[in-house]
Amino acid sequence: VAALSPAAARDLANYLASIPPKPANDGDSALASKGKRIFMEGIPEANIVSCYACHGPNGEGVRDIPRLGGLAYFYVKARLEQWGQGYHSTAGSPMPLVASHLGPDEIEALASYLSFVK
Ligand code: HEC
Repeated sequence: VAALSPAAARDLANYLASIPPKPANDGDSALASKGKRIFMEGIPEANIVSCYACHGPNGEGVRDIPRLGGLAYFYVKARLEQWGQGYHSTAGSPMPLVASHLGPDEIEALASYLSFVK
């Protein structure tokens, strides 16, 4: 994306934002209710914060905080794993800290749940 001009980036963003979201439905449905619980309530005793406070109750995104509802299982899983391993993010993003408290089971459950959210 380094080669995109600001105008082209804006046009592309407007186009992508105009496409109605469609759930990927590719997670493990048996884990969806566990994932929903973590998304809504977090796991306070494990220092895991709830996601909905920032991303919206249905993962619909709030201003510059991105939509999570319906994203592909493998994409969300990879993002959370990479942050947990210290990969970089947008400057000032809370996500590396948020993800550092998630274990493999929580990541599987969250990514599964989100893939089914409409
Ligand atoms: C304090 C606010 C906050 C909380 C709490 C939070 N997030 Fe985020 N999240 C953000 C912001 C801001 C971004 C965009 C910046 C970035 O990508 O780092 C983001 C980005 C993401 C992305 C990347 C989406 C994409 O399209 O690439 C995923 C996945 C994600 N968050 C998952 C979660 C999950 C799962 C939780 C709960 C365990 C959570 N977030 C809790 C603020 C938050």
